[in-house]
Amino acid sequence: MNTPSFYVREIPVYGDLILSPMDGFSDLPFRALTRRLGSAMSYTEFVNAIDVIQGHPNLHQRLTYQEEERPVVYQIFDDDPDRLVRAALMLREHSPDIIDVNMGCSDRQVAGRGAGAGLLRTPIKIARIFRKLTQALDIPVTGKIRLGWDDDCRNYLLIARIIEENGGQLVAIHGRTKKQGYGGKANWDAIAEVKQAVSIPVIGNGDVRTVADIERMKAYTNCNGVMIARAAIGNPWIFARRDREAVSDAQVRATMLEHLDRMLAFYGAERGLILFRKHATRYISPYRLTKAQRQQLLTCETKPDFMVLFDRIVLERQTV
Ligand SMILES: Cc1cc2nc3c(=O)[nH]c(=O)nc-3n(C[C@H](O)[C@H](O)[C@H](O)COP(=O)(O)O)c2cc1C
Repeated sequence: MNTPSFYVREIPVYGDLILSPMDGFSDLPFRALTRRLGSAMSYTEFVNAIDVIQGHPNLHQRLTYQEEERPVVYQIFDDDPDRLVRAALMLREHSPDIIDVNMGCSDRQVAGRGAGAGLLRTPIKIARIFRKLTQALDIPVTGKIRLGWDDDCRNYLLIARIIEENGGQLVAIHGRTKKQGYGGKANWDAIAEVKQAVSIPVIGNGDVRTVADIERMKAYTNCNGVMIARAAIGNPWIFARRDREAVSDAQVRATMLEHLDRMLAFYGAERGLILFRKHATRYISPYRLTKAQRQQLLTCETKPDFMVLFDRIVLERQTV
């Protein structure tokens, strides 16, 4: 692909599909796999500015990336502008391409203290955060938002404009309010409105599950890119614009094995396999396995055991 789909300030982004930041999922192994299949940027799992400043022991793993993943976006959350700036400057030392501010997390512990989606209730603070961050950093600063806090406070247009006016270089929007959490339907009209309202790139997000959904969201909203979260778990081929049904069992096996190998290499044999189980459960979910078969697969303690069992169970399924 020679022509960038869009630019984040001067950074070209080659491709219009992006793996969403997902705590517990968008780690290096999954990002690298999805990048290889077509995801155009790498958003890390969000990191707490306080953890950055205090040097949380687990942070290193979250911040590690491969050169092939560029552009790499570190996503941070907090409710305090000065702490966000301090943390962002520390993160800058790790040479990410972009710093993204999370304004979408609906978790009570995050949003409840005014961070994540909690920031949507304090637009003036968002202005301050973006002004300060963009003045302090030499790399682009972007934001990921929701529609607002609840139906009475759907201020996404105001927030998107504030981001742009204060130097933000891209806005990603999940078409739900904080109150909706992950329920109900994502509102793509709002994504289209944001795209019309700002001239920085807009990434649409919410309820994209199939290749047809990707094209529908693009046509409906005119967004520059599409972010995919839940539907990418167990289905990384979506970044190659292939629906899960179109992927053969042999390809599922090969990609799953690649994913598992990446996890073992990154986390070590024991932890890697344990962490892989949440992906494995989604890789195998389209197969009609019995509860016992699923249980067996998800409790394997070595990679060979897992692969041998997968082959046996899937092959048996085919011969039925
Ligand atoms: C398990 C999980 C973890 C998530 N973690 C983050 C996160 O760290 N940062 C963020 O901006 N959004 C996070 N999200 C929200 C997603 O990025 C995305 O906005 C949301 O799931 C809607 O997209 P989808 O309909 O494609 O799932 C998370 C979502 C899930 C399901």
